[in-house]
Amino acid sequence: MIEKESQFWAESWDRHASDYFTTPPHLGPCLELLFPDKSWTYLEMGGGTMRDARYLAQTGRSVTGSDSVEEVVSRARLYHGSALNITKIDAFHTGLTAKSFDVTYHNGVWSNFSNDRDIRQLAAEQARISRRYMVAVVHCRHNQPYRETFRARSVEDPLYDIRFFEIDELRSFMESFGPTRIYPCGSPLAYQLADRWRWGRLPQSIRSLIYRHVAPRTSPKDWFRIIAVTRLY
Ligand SMILES: C[S@@+](CC[C@H](N)C(=O)[O-])C[C@H]1O[C@@H](n2cnc3c(N)ncnc32)[C@H](O)[C@@H]1O
Repeated sequence: MIEKESQFWAESWDRHASDYFTTPPHLGPCLELLFPDKSWTYLEMGGGTMRDARYLAQTGRSVTGSDSVEEVVSRARLYHGSALNITKIDAFHTGLTAKSFDVTYHNGVWSNFSNDRDIRQLAAEQARISRRYMVAVVHCRHNQPYRETFRARSVEDPLYDIRFFEIDELRSFMESFGPTRIYPCGSPLAYQLADRWRWGRLPQSIRSLIYRHVAPRTSPKDWFRIIAVTRLY
């Protein structure tokens, strides 16, 4: 796996941003079900297009989107305008004071670091700046066809050359900071719960119950991403 530098992300988003901006976010609806409290503050790190942050902001939550690459931040500002608070933050060294946000999260960022030492450093900094919960979302290694798709695409495009995680592996990076729960993102049930025209019409409290108690018991072979939620000590 190649190490992806700032220049890589600036160029890669030139090619992919429009697709990402127009694809409905999958994580935002899951976070909405996990964290119903709208008075909390949220930070997305390594946000890229920041589409999940935008989704959460539209639900009335106080959300900041961030990324370490200047060009990526500028593009997101241009696209989202005043709908989202956006700032430049390096996830390794955020420069933020301790417990700055109630909930911090990132989606697909750790998947670009092959070295465990980097992941541990990212996790420690995230735990430091989070007041209540830290959330990590990575690509699911248990889903074999999904891995195959990425492997085939990576021949042409290094964006798809990423690390996939198993549930226990992801948990091992998080649980020293507090009790950690695992949920699917992009699983058949998660899709149903987020779909406004089907189960999405159920009250949010019911969808949240189903998501939190039933979705984690479904087979991770059908999950696209794994969400790890750590309640900080
Ligand atoms: C896979 S993309 C995230 C995509 C995002 N979830 C979305 O839906 O658009 C990873 C992002 O992490 C950013 N990134 C890489 N290293 C970073 C770091 N040290 N701190 C913050 N962001 C970083 C990259 O610029 C890139 O936009």
